[in-house]
This record gives sequence, C-alpha cells and structure tokens, in this order.
Amino acid sequence: MTVTPNPFPSSMPEGYQPLEDEPAFDAARHLALEAPGQIWSLADFGYGDDVIATTPSPVAAAGPFRLLTDEGVVAVQKVCRDLRDARRMEEGQRTSAYVPGAVYRSRFLRDLTNSPEVATFLSEIAGTRLLPHSMPSQQVYINYAPDDLSKAVDNWHVDSIGFDYVLMVSDPATLNGGRFEFFRGTMERVAELLDTQVSELTEGFADDLPSELVETIHFPGPGYALFQQGHLVLHRATRLFEVAERITLVPGYVAADQSGEDPTKVERITTWGEPGILAELARHAAWQSGVKLQNIVEHLPIADDTEAIIASLRNATADIDRLIDSLEEKS
Ligand SMILES: [Fe+2]
Repeated sequence: MTVTPNPFPSSMPEGYQPLEDEPAFDAARHLALEAPGQIWSLADFGYGDDVIATTPSPVAAAGPFRLLTDEGVVAVQKVCRDLRDARRMEEGQRTSAYVPGAVYRSRFLRDLTNSPEVATFLSEIAGTRLLPHSMPSQQVYINYAPDDLSKAVDNWHVDSIGFDYVLMVSDPATLNGGRFEFFRGTMERVAELLDTQVSELTEGFADDLPSELVETIHFPGPGYALFQQGHLVLHRATRLFEVAERITLVPGYVAADQSGEDPTKVERITTWGEPGILAELARHAAWQSGVKLQNIVEHLPIADDTEAIIASLRNATADIDRLIDSLEEKS
C-alpha cells in the first residue's frame, strides 16, 4: 500500500506574514546528507518489547550527521534570522524563544522540510518510511536562545510528536554552553529520577540527571543534526554562559506505517494557541484514519468474522474519535 504525505492545506491560517525576500531551496546545492556517527536503539535505552512493539522504528536517536552544505547553512541562517526579526516586529517583543508556523512563513523552510531527499535519508536511518509531519505547524520549529543567560535554552522534555531532528543552524564553535543532551534511558526511569509521571515529561525539568546516563552531542559544525524519536528520548539544550546566537531548527516527521499508536500528544496540542492548530489536528486525524481505511479496502481478509471486522473499523476511526472526545471536553 502506498501511503502519501498529508497534502499541504489549501489555505493559510491568519496571522502569518510570509517572508518577502528569501532564497529558493535547491536540494542539489543545499543538502549534504551524510551517515550518522552513531545510532542508539530503543533497546540500548532499556526499552522493552512492550514499547518497541508500539513504534515502527527501533531507533531512539542517531547522529550527529551532516545535513546541509555550506551554502545551505548560509541560506538557513538568513531565513531563521529574518523570521526572528519579522516576528519581533510583528509582536513587538524583545525576544522570541521560538518561531511557530515557520512553514507558512517561509517557502524555503517548507521546501526543505518537505524535501523527499531528506525524508528518504531519515527513513533509512529510522528503518521505517518517514514522511513530513501531517501537521504543518509540526513540520518545523525554529528555536532561539533566550537573552537571559540564567535560563536554559530548553529544559529536559520529551516531544509531543513522534520523530524529529535537531539541526544546529549556528556555528557551535561560537557557543560557550548551549549543549544538546539526551538521557540514555527509558521514560519510566527518568520519571522516577525526576519524581514525576511519564505523562508530565513534556513539561520541562531544570534538574540535573546522572551524568553517566546523559549523552552530549558534539555537532562538528553548523548544518549538522541529531535525529530522534523525540517522544521516547528526553532531551534538553543547556544554558549559554555568554550571550551568543544559538539557533536550531526542529523538523518533525510521521511514520507511513500507521499500524502502531499515534505518538502525537493530541490532547495536549489542542491547548496550544497557534493559528489553525485545531484544523491541523483534524487533518492529521483524517489523514491517519484515511491510511487505515485504505488498508481495510486493500487488505481486510474476506473471511474475517464479525468481531475482527468491528475491531478493524474501530481501529480505523479511533484517531477521529480521540480528537472529537478531546475537543468536546475542551469546549
Ligand atoms: Fe524537543
């Protein structure tokens, strides 16, 4: 069965101002896809078969790997700086820690994060076919370091989506601090260490964790990245010790294989204030259900009994039911 990515919405949410002057993305000139230095499996993290069976990729994290050419780095830096400055003007705020909706604002970033070359490359690393995230808002976030040096760039957290990579846009040689780290262990283990629940790990924790369980990723230069199954890998960016420009890009992906659980934290995302987010969630649920319904059309065994047929149909519509329940609870 051929699963195609969720198409880009035909209309744009209100409130996003597209960049007027930006480079055109060109895979041949901007991409330099090189194999990751290391791959950590979910089993390496201590995850058991019960968790591993819920996701089509056995990989927890992989990297660092080169993703951009020098020319690609210059182009991405320009777009990220222009978006930061435009957002500051838009909102009149001193600092924006991140820019949401970047694929609506930048054609360059939309083309980069929807690049089939990158998706194929990441799919090989993940061991399962990955597609650009079915929610455009999750196709890329741009993160900037806060001006306040006492604050971490990003506290320990897990992501609300399944797969992403963290691309170092700034030159890491210019940074004092601002290290990217992940916890090499399970969510249960870290929840215990942080004295919290697994379900709370999206929220951000400032605690230090045992150093023997923490991996620091040394990006060799700008344009290098780390891939992760972000909902199962607790990670952070430590604080800077000197003011510096630290920009990272975080593009998100979904698995084409929809037989497992949806790692997207739908209930949490319904509370986010980004323009168009609820329609994005509806399109995400519809896309997932569409994949599952098509699977029934093509593969439902003709000899299935009533019970099996009900189970298949319920499974196919579960994503839509889950979203409806969540929205009804909210309203
Ligand atoms: Fe994250």
